[in-house]
Amino acid sequence: MIPQRRACRPKGRRYTTRDKGLMERSPYSDMTMESCLNTAIEVAREAGGLLLQHFRQPLEITYKRRSDLVTEADRRSETLIVERLRSHFPDHAIVAEEGGGQETGSDYCWYVDPLDGTTNFAHGFPVFSVTLGVAYRGEVVAGVVYDPTRDELFTAERGAGAFLNSQRLHVSNNGDLAECLVATGFPPFATNHDLNVEFYFRFTQLTHGIRRAGSAALDLCSVAAGRFDGFWELKLNPWDKAAGTLLVAEAGGLVTGITGKPFNLLGDDIFASNGLVHDQMLRVFSEILEQRGGSGVGR
Ligand code: IPD
Ligand code: CA
Ligand code: CA
Repeated sequence: MIPQRRACRPKGRRYTTRDKGLMERSPYSDMTMESCLNTAIEVAREAGGLLLQHFRQPLEITYKRRSDLVTEADRRSETLIVERLRSHFPDHAIVAEEGGGQETGSDYCWYVDPLDGTTNFAHGFPVFSVTLGVAYRGEVVAGVVYDPTRDELFTAERGAGAFLNSQRLHVSNNGDLAECLVATGFPPFATNHDLNVEFYFRFTQLTHGIRRAGSAALDLCSVAAGRFDGFWELKLNPWDKAAGTLLVAEAGGLVTGITGKPFNLLGDDIFASNGLVHDQMLRVFSEILEQRGGSGVGR
């Protein structure tokens, strides 16, 4: 039995015009969405359990690049997830961080991060997650983020809302930047963090504070849950953000790039907020970018 079944579209819910547009274009059915979400939930829980077994145990750690760690736990979790997805959806494409995916030419593509927060995990800091999002023709339609240390399961299905365990999520209703708690992250492999350090410095002055907890998927869930009012990062991969961005949107928030351009799953930068402080935060990004002579978001 899958306990989070309520995350699927509640009976009687009316679709919005936008949802209807998506469905008219798409042959995917409610049943496919349900089956994707239920499988994602099952698999994320199983992979989360595996991560807990390895947590704070002696681990083989290797480096992809300087400061860019990968552990045995990342690899085992990915193998488990990819095997399960292949057996449930043999035709679907899979893009997985550690390279275990498959290209099939399907309209469905899974984005898998088997351990988001590897650096935390390797240091015994208990902030990490498993995240899976499935896109139909490039648009994320269902996603799951599981935090095994708190047993928090975040789920979303396009048009059906976002949930934490069985509780419906809503972004915060804070419209005053001065009272916000915001978050960001820094990719482990980048060498030039100057721009984001400037954003970090400025938002530290303008808000209640910034958190840099080390799992972008969980940061996005915290925006969806109203724990954070905003989150941005300059260089994230699609597997880091597929599920989390759907959670924010389904919880009533807004997701764009840091210059306000439409969100692009395959793009670099991302900015998610409760919607109410979006423009205030965009102005801060823009002021700093202008001071730097419009040098772009870069890395
Ligand atoms: C990282 C985390 C971190 C973010 C980095 C990501 P990983 O993912 O999400 O919060 O700041 O940009 O690369 O490497 O732990 O899967
Ligand atoms: Ca990640
Ligand atoms: Ca990872």
